[in-house]
Amino acid sequence: MTSTRAALEAAVADHILAIAPYQPGKPVSEIARTFGLQESSIVKLASNENPLGMADSVRAAVARAVQELGRYPDPNGFDLKQDLSRRYQVPADWITLGNGSNDLLELISLVLLGPGVSCVYAEHAFTVYKLCTQERGARHIMVPAVDYGHDLDAMLAAICADTRLLFIANPNNPTGTFLPAEQIDAFLAQVWERHGRQLTVVLDEAYNEYLAPELRFDSAELVRRYPNLIVTRTFSKAYGLAGLRIGYALAQAELTDVLNRVRQPFNVNSVALEAARAALADQDFLQRSYELNQSGKQFLEQCFESLGLDYVPSHGNFILVRVGDAAAINLALLKQGVIVRPVAGDGLPEHLRITIGLPEENQRFAQALAGILQA
Ligand SMILES: Cc1ncc(COP(=O)(O)O)c(C=O)c1O
Repeated sequence: MTSTRAALEAAVADHILAIAPYQPGKPVSEIARTFGLQESSIVKLASNENPLGMADSVRAAVARAVQELGRYPDPNGFDLKQDLSRRYQVPADWITLGNGSNDLLELISLVLLGPGVSCVYAEHAFTVYKLCTQERGARHIMVPAVDYGHDLDAMLAAICADTRLLFIANPNNPTGTFLPAEQIDAFLAQVWERHGRQLTVVLDEAYNEYLAPELRFDSAELVRRYPNLIVTRTFSKAYGLAGLRIGYALAQAELTDVLNRVRQPFNVNSVALEAARAALADQDFLQRSYELNQSGKQFLEQCFESLGLDYVPSHGNFILVRVGDAAAINLALLKQGVIVRPVAGDGLPEHLRITIGLPEENQRFAQALAGILQA
């Protein structure tokens, strides 16, 4: 008789069995148990969360929304879409809401990928692009990075007759690299001219709110010009709502319509819908989050420079630093209750990704790292 495992493996498609599960940042409770530490003494700089948490105005909206949890959420997120529509000057039927922007990446892959087609993305790009491609049994074309960032010319050249989807992360995670407006626009123009509707481009802007003001550009305007473009954003990062799971996609109505055909009706919960509305309205909190991130980034850059470590200048709320034996240094940091993110799975075995935290958290990390390297 075949074992249960063998029987299951026979029933599951090979492309699913080939997937290596996503490695999330380790939770505080797990590190406390493993290393016998107090939870309160642990610093988590591993998941690119906003160290300020959520704004007080959002907390109040959450408390109100919790009263209504006996009801299903609005399946179309009418109010939030109206707010987003005003903000980006696009019709509400150009907006898709997701259970985090990951959900949107999944929906897009569900609609566009499958066996016999391919997906293009960059080396060291956000790991979920590979996962989405594998899940759908599609072929992935990973284009080598240049200076840790996307090589758009090589990505354009890598597009094949069967390519249906191309992902760009801007800024990228885990490298923090950024492509300016002119390069993105020129790339989109060429893709549209050569491939038209046959190829959809996803511009993933999860860290957009952390960009310096002079680098920000109006990606909704790009959506107006390119019918094959989907821009995704999230409330998980600068808005501080990672635990609530809410993000959105902007694309022209026809593309949005297709995404919504496969979207589960209640994919976004009612607390998240209200919290996102309150978060959008609180631009002061966003500014504070941006400033805290800038000063934390400077502090960490100085720390790396004083330790003689190379780092990749970052446009996000995290920094990639080359430490050498990243696995050993990560373990030593964990033992001291400092959780950061190893990125060997992203093809960067000598690097660690550090989320920028509160000043005292950054200091804890810097002291621990210096102690380990100088021991
Ligand atoms: C580049 C990028 N895109 C998308 C996401 C997904 O975030 P969420 O599903 O929380 O919106 C992340 C999260 O780490 C990310 O780094």
